[in-house]
Amino acid sequence: MSKQRLEQHLALNGGMRAVTRIEGKGKPKIGVDEFMSIAERFGFSAAALAKIRASAEEDGLGDGPFLANYYSNLKETKVQAYERAARGIFKVDYAVATSSGTGALHAAFVAAGVGPGTEVICPSIGFFATSAAVVQAKGIPVFCDVDATLMMDPAKIGPLITKRTVALAPTHFMGGVCDMPAIMKIARTHKLKVVEDCAQSCGGSVNGRLVGTFGDLGCFSISAYKIVGGGEGGLVLTNSKRLWERTNQVVECGGLWRPTRFALPRYAGELFCGTNYRLSELEAAVDVVQLRKMPATVKRFSQVKLRILRDLQPCREIVPQRLVDPAGEVGYSLRFYPETIELGSRIVEALRAENIPAGIRGHSDVPDWHLSRFMFPVTLKTSATADGCPFSCPLYAERGGRVEYHDDDCPVANDLFARNVSIGLSQWYSAKDCRNIARGINKVLASYCTPDPAATPWLPLAE
Ligand SMILES: Cc1ncc(COP(=O)(O)O)c(C=O)c1O
Repeated sequence: MSKQRLEQHLALNGGMRAVTRIEGKGKPKIGVDEFMSIAERFGFSAAALAKIRASAEEDGLGDGPFLANYYSNLKETKVQAYERAARGIFKVDYAVATSSGTGALHAAFVAAGVGPGTEVICPSIGFFATSAAVVQAKGIPVFCDVDATLMMDPAKIGPLITKRTVALAPTHFMGGVCDMPAIMKIARTHKLKVVEDCAQSCGGSVNGRLVGTFGDLGCFSISAYKIVGGGEGGLVLTNSKRLWERTNQVVECGGLWRPTRFALPRYAGELFCGTNYRLSELEAAVDVVQLRKMPATVKRFSQVKLRILRDLQPCREIVPQRLVDPAGEVGYSLRFYPETIELGSRIVEALRAENIPAGIRGHSDVPDWHLSRFMFPVTLKTSATADGCPFSCPLYAERGGRVEYHDDDCPVANDLFARNVSIGLSQWYSAKDCRNIARGINKVLASYCTPDPAATPWLPLAE
């Protein structure tokens, strides 16, 4: 057949279509079996699973779900719902879902301008992920000692600020809250960014304002171990569009977040090579529900802690952890400092005998990444490559930077980390449970210490 005749047969020219119907039809890529696998992971009994399967199989799933946040045909994906819930609860303009708290911190530090030749002031008590994320962003962590709150001591920040400092990274430790008004004042005076690490205190507040909304960026972990927790997840909050865009660029460098994915940069600093910290739809489906439960969860914890604290008697030989805002505590642990580790150990043993879950680190020298001197990848300045980047970065040296880490850099942290007695609290304790626990603590303290109304009170005295 001549070329001309062949062309006439093309569908393009009105000829019959080669493919009129696709016969091969299978099941959706993701269907009932995957759904049942999730149900199994939830721990339903075999009988319940059988009922769920029977019911699910009755329904036509069509093409099945599309479990990505982008290019979904849903009105709102679970990731979007999670981000919307975060904006609503925290009353911020922007929220970015991330696959972990560490990813959230890394993205926030890069967004805040942390890079080669810069320093970030991190607390000596918190978790290794904060300073690790600074190093990941190619910055240098500088550890700041704590005060009796167990959190970054605002009075010790000033002497650590250099021309290389770009950010402060306060960590709200174990349900507690940092003195954010004081930290923000220092940051604004020195034109520094503040990246709050709220992984351990989601829902905590200072003077009625939620932590994570004081700083330029607030970072959260939504891992299984946290107050709001799914499996592995995170969150970044900000009120700045620029910081939101730069955070997105780290979290999702494929550009799917951009109005026009492949477009040229709209301004210097918008586009750079980030990575992929996208949150999955399955995780977001759990996290959005968890996040919505957060205010009620925190209220229960806070009430339990306040109830117990109100019933405790002051004693001469112990100092309660100083609380920046007792009403703003998430309150899943209650802490105090006995005069000596030996006294603390006796108190802990007696509390446990009363069925009160207490602990003390004491003289143990087992490394613990919640204390800066044990954060070896930072303190030993080890790198993934032999060049020692970023600790050996020439740009850092050019700017006069030279960091050395010593075990005794933060003596208050070392002392209080070893000496504090902690009592774990449940949000589900009833008023009676709280009374019994307070009674037990008072009983033990009265046996080993000297009750004295003039000793440091458990709660700040009313003005
Ligand atoms: C204070 C703090 N920051 C960051 C993280 C890291 O979070 P993720 O495990 O979600 O990466 C944690 C986790 O334990 C943490 O406690």
